[in-house]
Order: sequence, then structure tokens, then C-alpha cells
Amino acid sequence: MVRSEELRYESEREFFDHVASRTVVERMSDKTLNRYANPPNPELYDKERMFEILKSSKGRKVLEIGCGEGFTAVQLAFCGYQVTGIDISPRSIEVAKKLASIHGLSDYTTFVTANVEKSEGLVFDNVKQFDVIWCENILHHLTDKLADIMVLIRCALSDGGLFIAHEPVEYAAWLKKVRSLFPIKKSYTPDQQPLRKHEFNIIRSTFPNLEVEYRNILFRPNVLPVDFFARVDKHLLKFKCLRQLAGYAVLHATK
Ligand SMILES: C[S@@+](CC[C@H](N)C(=O)[O-])C[C@H]1O[C@@H](n2cnc3c(N)ncnc32)[C@H](O)[C@@H]1O
Repeated sequence: MVRSEELRYESEREFFDHVASRTVVERMSDKTLNRYANPPNPELYDKERMFEILKSSKGRKVLEIGCGEGFTAVQLAFCGYQVTGIDISPRSIEVAKKLASIHGLSDYTTFVTANVEKSEGLVFDNVKQFDVIWCENILHHLTDKLADIMVLIRCALSDGGLFIAHEPVEYAAWLKKVRSLFPIKKSYTPDQQPLRKHEFNIIRSTFPNLEVEYRNILFRPNVLPVDFFARVDKHLLKFKCLRQLAGYAVLHATK
């Protein structure tokens, strides 16, 4: 229904506007920027893995959907991509523009406030315009309209273009119960929905050659170095039967 949709958009906008209003815009370290330009441990870290996959893509024009405060967009621009970032939150877009500016990368980035569920930001009279469409923690905010959005994503990709996403995966009911016993800090919007089989089917019907890499079985309490958990996960995920315990997935396909 139109009204509840508008309320949902308003609640997403408000939540992320609030987050962005507290952000202090600072230059990222050279170490961080170089980490994604030349990912040292893609087998351990999801975002490094995304940047590694990106290297196989052809073309330089990237659309990032749900770019938030622009950290990834700026990292992509640092790697030489021409990036368009869209997001429903105007304050996040303001932060993203400042972030690009302090990195001297404004000429390589365009940031637009747009609601992708209303087809804003994907310019349809000029289809096939992006070589890469990058979705990082956004599709699970769009599950109500995922089928329509996936069709639009495919349209906006050039032939041979890369669709790449990183998204949380819904745990089995019993695992959710176990995890809820642990005091982990959560920061959720009310309408987000980690991807279930249904959403994976929608994505796969748009990109039949979709590859799904399951990641992150163990949650990361701050008591041991993240590296430790990433290394254990890497070994656990070698067993196919344990993949249903994964918390995230990296998804990618070429058109
Ligand atoms: C979890 S954040 C992810 C931000 C960034 N991609 C990252 O990984 O840090 C989800 C982002 O999606 C944006 N978003 C939610 N619904 C949207 C919509 N309908 N259209 C465009 N952006 C949306 C939010 O404003 C927020 O910035």
C-alpha cells in the first residue's frame, strides 16, 4: 500500500540521516585505500574479496546502490573507477560528497539522493550504462521490491557487466535462537530482511550464472582479533554442510 511504503521510506531515510548526522568526515588512511586497491587477504575479508572480483570486470563505470556515506564509492574512485553513488538518505549523500572532496576524488564521483525502489537513480532512457553495479548491504533493505529492482539492475548493466553484492543471510530458526542468547550490539532498521531462499531465487532468476560465496559463520566479539574468527570461518566454510550457518554472502554474476 502506498502509505505504508512511504512510511517505510521515511523510516529508512530518518535512520540513516541520523547516523550520517553524527559522522565526522575524515580522510581515510593510505593503508585503508591501498588495502582495497590491492586486497592482501580476500579469502578472509568480504570487502577485500569484492574488490578482488571487481578486478575481473571490464570497464570503469560503477553504480553503487545504497552508497551510504560514500566510503566504498571513494575507495572505488581511488582505484580508478568512475562512480555514481545513490542513496535515499540526503545527509548520507552530503557526507559522501564531502568525503570525496577531501580525498580529491570529486571528479571521479557523482552522488545523488534517490530512492531505488521508485526507480530513481537508474537512468532508464540510457540503458546499459554501467559496467559494474555494486550493492553492499542494501538488497536486504529492498526485499519488497527485489524482483523489480533486479530487472532494472540488469537493464542498467552493459553487456558483460558485473553485478556484485554483499548481503546478510537469514539464519535457520534454531540458529537465530542460539545467537539471540549472546549480547551482541544490533543496529537495524525495522524493515530490513536478511536474504532468504526466496530472495536468492529472485536474484538467480535475473542472473542465472550467479555465484554465491558464503562467509562469516562466527560472530566477532571484540575480545579476540577479527583475524582469528576470519581464519576459523575460512576452514569451517570448506564443509558444504556448514554453509547454512553463514551470516553473509558475496554474490556476483556477469550479464
Ligand atoms: C546498511 S546501509 C549500507 C551503506 C553502505 N552500502 C555500506 O555498506 O556501508 C543501507 C543504505 O541503503 C540506503 N537505502 C535504504 N533504502 C533505500 C532505497 N529505497 N533507495 C536507496 N537507498 C536506500 C540507506 O539510506 C543506507 O545508506
